[in-house]
Amino acid sequence: MAYETISVSLEEGIAILKINRPKVLNALNRATLLEIQRALKELEKDPEVRVLIITGEGEKAFVAGADISEMAPMNPKEALEFSKLGHETLSLIEEFPSPVIAAVNGYALGGGLELVLACDIILASENARLGLPEVTLGICPGFGGTQRLPRLIGKARAKELIFTGEMIDAKKAYEFGIVNKVVPQDKLLDEAKEIARKIAKNGPLAVRAAKRLVEKGLETSLRSGEAMEIEAWANLFATEDQKEGMKAFLEKRKPEFKAR
Ligand code: CAA
Repeated sequence: MAYETISVSLEEGIAILKINRPKVLNALNRATLLEIQRALKELEKDPEVRVLIITGEGEKAFVAGADISEMAPMNPKEALEFSKLGHETLSLIEEFPSPVIAAVNGYALGGGLELVLACDIILASENARLGLPEVTLGICPGFGGTQRLPRLIGKARAKELIFTGEMIDAKKAYEFGIVNKVVPQDKLLDEAKEIARKIAKNGPLAVRAAKRLVEKGLETSLRSGEAMEIEAWANLFATEDQKEGMKAFLEKRKPEFKAR
């Protein structure tokens, strides 16, 4: 599958989607968002894919936001369409059946941080800078930042970041609970692959069920979340992977999961 603004590779069950517009610090324009959507839909259909890593080209930026040159002349109707496109794309990441790891290799600003917030596990390089600087441009976050950030780090911290538009470094992002781990730039992708490999060797249907349960559970009450878990857990006993996983344990060998 050919792309112009991203690249996609797949090796040993680990797909890597790289946003590739380094001249503009990987800013997201319509074309990029549409290509990300196309790639996600293709990867979702591929039974080989166990984990997806999203990163940016180069050592300076993950994504420095939505493309300001494309947004500058927009009228409200065009802005509405653009925001919807961003939200749709990020929802596809959030609802991607397998886990998505963000490898944040530099600036993750505005739409870039909003994209990161739609991922499941977030690694950042030591030089990463994260922020929602939209208010400095006379707009507010438009790809979910006002919704996902307070849910993740709480209202007060999210409001401070959004209202000031200031960037925080990787260490602070770790302290805030946005980032799972901070690693040196030259180790970032290896570290992301290492976590991806640990996930990829587990029962894929079980991992997918767990992702769905965490996501859906956070949107609902504890009691309905528990009910969803009971049902999903029991349904996994209808899979070959459950039989294989438990048989392998009892036979003291490694399981061979088939996503069935
Ligand atoms: N859109 C378009 N182009 C961008 C861009 C963006 N978001 N961010 C950087 N670029 C371009 C610059 O215009 C520059 O292009 P030229 O070489 O043609 O001048 C090139 O990338 C390199 O950038 P800088 O020269 O600015 O690099 P720097 O090292 O001096 O600064 C930076 C780096 C602090 C990240 C700075 O580029 C910056 O502040 N970028 C914009 C960040 C931002 O405001 N993002 C939010 C966008 S709004 C949004 O995302 C809306 C939403 O909610 C969906």
